[in-house]
Amino acid sequence: MSNLITVYFEADHKRLDSLYLAFKHSFKEGNIKQAKAYFIAYKEGIEKHIVWEESVLFPFFEQQTGMLHGPTRVMTMEHQQVYRLNDAILACLEQQESSAAFELELEELLAGHNHKEENILYPMIDNNSNESQKAKLLLDIASLTNKP
Ligand SMILES: [Fe+2]
Repeated sequence: MSNLITVYFEADHKRLDSLYLAFKHSFKEGNIKQAKAYFIAYKEGIEKHIVWEESVLFPFFEQQTGMLHGPTRVMTMEHQQVYRLNDAILACLEQQESSAAFELELEELLAGHNHKEENILYPMIDNNSNESQKAKLLLDIASLTNKP
């Protein structure tokens, strides 16, 4: 049995982490315009990632395991905090105010969140699906991404 879902979603976490780090780096260098562009790329990317999870992965997990109020409920609540912190940081960038406190909160939240997804949730999805189900999940995600 492959770990296709874990590999795919973990790679996307890494891609998003790189964009976020590039934002921090540019900001530190004083290149605010570039920092904002990186932050927006990270923000759009993670919010798309959340939609993939909430509209494709989590319903599949709930259906396969019968766990309707377990890990997916916790992850969805944490996603709400990601949205809130992303908006707060962007507002600070636009008003040229420090977003350091929001950044710290977001970094701590995402460290725990991604760890739980990569070590518990994604592997459970891989273990509860056959190869054609995994392929279908990735196709469903791709079709969401390709929507205008
Ligand atoms: Fe997530």
